[in-house]
Amino acid sequence: MSGTAKPTITVTIDGTNKSMQLPLLTGTLGPPVADIRKLNGELGIFTFDPGYGMTASCDSKITFIDGDEGVLLYRGYPIEQLAEKSDFIEVSYLLLNGNLPNAAELDGFEKGVMRHTMLHEQLRRFYDGFRRDAHPMAIMCAVVGAMAAFYHDNLDINDPEQRRIAAFRLIAKVPTIAAWAYKYSIGQPFMYPRNDLKYAENFLYMMNAVPAEPWVSNPILSRAMDRILVLHADHEQNASTSTVRLAGSTGANPFACIAAGIAALWGPAHGGANEAVLKMLAEIGTPKNIPQFISEVKDKNSHTKLMGFGHRVYKNFDPRATIMKETCHEVLAELGIKDEPLLDMAMEMERIALSDPYFIERKLYPNVDFYSGIILKAMGIPTSMFTVLFAVARTVGWVSQWKEMVEDPGQRIGRPRQIYTGAAKRDYTTIGGR
Ligand code: SDX
Repeated sequence: MSGTAKPTITVTIDGTNKSMQLPLLTGTLGPPVADIRKLNGELGIFTFDPGYGMTASCDSKITFIDGDEGVLLYRGYPIEQLAEKSDFIEVSYLLLNGNLPNAAELDGFEKGVMRHTMLHEQLRRFYDGFRRDAHPMAIMCAVVGAMAAFYHDNLDINDPEQRRIAAFRLIAKVPTIAAWAYKYSIGQPFMYPRNDLKYAENFLYMMNAVPAEPWVSNPILSRAMDRILVLHADHEQNASTSTVRLAGSTGANPFACIAAGIAALWGPAHGGANEAVLKMLAEIGTPKNIPQFISEVKDKNSHTKLMGFGHRVYKNFDPRATIMKETCHEVLAELGIKDEPLLDMAMEMERIALSDPYFIERKLYPNVDFYSGIILKAMGIPTSMFTVLFAVARTVGWVSQWKEMVEDPGQRIGRPRQIYTGAAKRDYTTIGGR
């Protein structure tokens, strides 16, 4: 509206006449942000925000999270609606292109993805170099990064068409790379992708089929796997996505950037939590040991965390955890699994934690990782593959965020600053004088 003064906040350095107005920028949803880009130039100061928990690193149109309300939107669509009504290929199109596809767009996109599911035969030979007991996330980092050795020389990231093909290659090949990492670990022959199958179904085929006998698809498991992929597809500027953006801001090729994202996701505080939840539940053993474990968690000296609980942004239920819990019950019922001790443990753990002041005061709720591992275990996925699955799903989110960053005309190389607390300038002394 003309004539309406733009909102600002005033920053004044006490005891000086130094002051400036910082523009307050507002997005479609969410809190306003103070634009501090001129702060150092005008006042000679930086801001301090370890872990960037209070810093907007970019403006993005892809995913919105309201941590207090437990809201998650992909391009404006609530995750609850997408989990119920959409599927991973359609959600992938949405994240990459900004809107839901019509029938022709969806068909073309799906064909584009399925046409890139195979790996170069020389990439297949990479697996022989790994130990059989290598963690599959190590293989994911290595083989996805190695894609740059096969495609980097014909990739101009400033060419939209080459970015589109790189996106297809990454989204299409990560399930193959992941499934082959599993097959390698159990000494079974690799199953090549089948383009007559849907994305999630094809992944389960490559994970579970063997050449010696026909493979029968299980629509319950395929649907559950597809929903798990949808729930993990993107999550705004989390640690691994920020890693992808930072790597991409240097002009690095998308294969190297996604490999960096996989490495960041591996940590137990991030994508590795789903694997850690199962280990935690197994170590606790039975529900009667839960109170003892909870008291350990509350003892700071134990450095014990309740894995699958808490979140940097959500201070309410992670909406994905709610959907995952419902899916967990559905899958177990449909698979005829009457009592799953791990699920009983998890539900008892949730009940106890949500009634304990320690967790209530700190607004610690189950996050996406708390129930996902239980479903995956029920589906026969080995624990070591849980974070790999997270990486398979998140690849489309990483690629979408990378594409948005590359296409941002205002994009600059990422370069955080610091508070220097080391030694002041001093002169070198010879060893005799020390
Ligand atoms: C993911 O960012 C994303 O979007 C990530 C993700 C995505 O989709 O990309 O959502 C995926 O990474 C989910 C999170 C998975 N990680 C875990 O489940 C690991 C367990 N969680 C914690 O490690 C922790 O909650 C974090 C790392 C997730 C968040 O850490 P923060 O930001 O430090 O948590 P906080 O500031 O909310 O902590 C407040 C207090 C602290 O105690 P005090 O110093 O105030 O006494 O709560 C404590 C924390 O120590 N706390 C926990 C806890 N999480 C936080 N105490 C026990 N168990 C926990 N899980």
